[in-house]
Amino acid sequence: MKIVAFAGSISSTSINKKMVKYALNNFKNAEINLLDLNDFEMPIYSEDREKNGFPDKVYEFIKNIENADVVICSLAEHNRTYCTGYKNVLDWAFRANSKFFSDKPMLLMSTTTVENGSVNVLKTANTFFPLLGADVKCSFLLPDFNENFDLSKNEIKNEKLKNDFNKIIDEFKRIVNYN
Ligand SMILES: Cc1cc2nc3c(=O)[nH]c(=O)nc-3n(C[C@H](O)[C@H](O)[C@H](O)COP(=O)(O)O)c2cc1C
Repeated sequence: MKIVAFAGSISSTSINKKMVKYALNNFKNAEINLLDLNDFEMPIYSEDREKNGFPDKVYEFIKNIENADVVICSLAEHNRTYCTGYKNVLDWAFRANSKFFSDKPMLLMSTTTVENGSVNVLKTANTFFPLLGADVKCSFLLPDFNENFDLSKNEIKNEKLKNDFNKIIDEFKRIVNYN
């Protein structure tokens, strides 16, 4: 199974990337393609710029999705929505191919440093990604990352949240027939 994974963040210390890596630990037999959105930095999307053509990087990003069987991502929430770095990739990709998630089964996650945070970005993505061709099978929100994630052990330390996460992972594995 080929998995393409990314954090919806351009932070070099992204907690959402840590979350993605944590989820990927459960897919040791898969061929993993972990993207860094910094490699897809493009001019800020505008309809005017689009008239001058699409950056090659947007097609590269879409190809990475198309070449995978499954998508795993975790989105940062900034000001109640996608972080700017991710939103820019999303806007270009949407204009290049409005169904760029190509019907791939998706595990959609988000984590935040804020109490009660990430609710909005996860809700938006859960509602909107299917319109972009994503087959969102499971989603998970880890609140208050600094409180709930043990960086020395690289795992969720809150037992209830860890159980919830493991159930989601098992469910996703079952749905995508991962062995
Ligand atoms: C400009 C800015 C806006 C933010 N807005 C939110 C927000 O609306 N909701 C939230 O849960 N966290 C918010 N945060 C805190 C993020 O959860 C935190 O920056 C987190 O580390 C982002 O994930 P990342 O490390 O993967 O980039 C914000 C942070 C910044 C810098």
